[in-house]
Amino acid sequence: MEKKLVAIVVLMLVIVVFVAAYWATEPGRQATAAARFKEESIARGAGLYVEACSRCHGTRGQGLVGPALKGSRLDERGLEKTISRGVSRTAMPAWGQEDGGPFKADQIHDLAVFIKNWDDGLLAGKGAVEQPTTTKTQTSTPPVTSRPASPVPTTTPAAIPATPTPSLASTPVAPTPIPSPTPKASTTPSAAGRQLFSSLGCIACHGTNGEGSQIAPAVAGLAGKEVELASAQKVIADDAFLRESIVAPNAKIVKGYVPDAMPKPKLTDAQVDQLVEFIKSLK
Ligand code: HEC
Ligand code: HEC
Repeated sequence: MEKKLVAIVVLMLVIVVFVAAYWATEPGRQATAAARFKEESIARGAGLYVEACSRCHGTRGQGLVGPALKGSRLDERGLEKTISRGVSRTAMPAWGQEDGGPFKADQIHDLAVFIKNWDDGLLAGKGAVEQPTTTKTQTSTPPVTSRPASPVPTTTPAAIPATPTPSLASTPVAPTPIPSPTPKASTTPSAAGRQLFSSLGCIACHGTNGEGSQIAPAVAGLAGKEVELASAQKVIADDAFLRESIVAPNAKIVKGYVPDAMPKPKLTDAQVDQLVEFIKSLK
């Protein structure tokens, strides 16, 4: 009888110890799960950033058409709000589904978490997956042959097809695809225009080769064509129209777009001419 009682007491003690131990470690388990959850969120956010944001905010979040996001002073909630709603009357679109954008609330959250826990390494990883093939085609053509060959580098950046973000991981290509090969080529107005098109950030919206994007119409093949305006009026894209579209983007709005979507950089007349020549050279 005594022995039985002792056995029961011992058993109960063992149970108590187990339960206590479980309770003591539970917060730790929860913390680990939360940390893993957060890591996954950051990784997803990085992927979305590369796809949707880097062309305006820079491949390293350093800022381009839009401000730098790496080191943003907005807190997570502030970021979510801005990303979801966009900034009206600027190039910053609304990304949240409630605001007509493509992303669900948890994707907006992932983006905000990534921005607050910025990690360039994750961005490089994303770029590396897609870059090898394009890089190869690009580097294989110009280096040695470009000297005696055609002075106008119309062939070079054409190697970047659909990927809106320029190379992230591969070293030979600069983050912003400023066409590097023949500096002498900038003697032709159209080649100088190509450089401006890149350095002024036109490519962020109109694409490396003017092919257009979700946020801006194509300018390749535009010259001489009929353009339908938001006013339902139709105009021919002659030199005057192209000039006006660059220096006074709000004068005529292309159908399907809103005013103030395109910034107005300060340009000299000569630069505007060069941009127009470049656009006319794009077929
Ligand atoms: C077409 C260009 C463009 C794209 C694409 C774009 N942005 Fe922006 N973004 C801007 C511009 C321009 C601003 C500045 C708006 C203003 O004048 O306040 C901005 C502002 C912001 C701000 C506010 C920054 C601050 O400090 O006030 C955040 C946050 C932001 N963008 C996040 C994003 C995220 C995340 C994505 C991708 C889902 C994205 N943006 C895609 C152009 C863009
Ligand atoms: C932030 C995005 C953005 C940037 C950067 C930008 N554009 Fe635009 N651009 C647009 C949008 C949106 C439209 C259509 C709305 C309109 O007509 O203003 C447009 C329209 C145009 C048009 C008329 C297109 C047509 O189909 O009739 C031309 C030409 C043009 N842009 C040239 C340029 C040049 C050159 C640069 C660089 C100096 C530039 N854009 C920079 C967004 C941009």
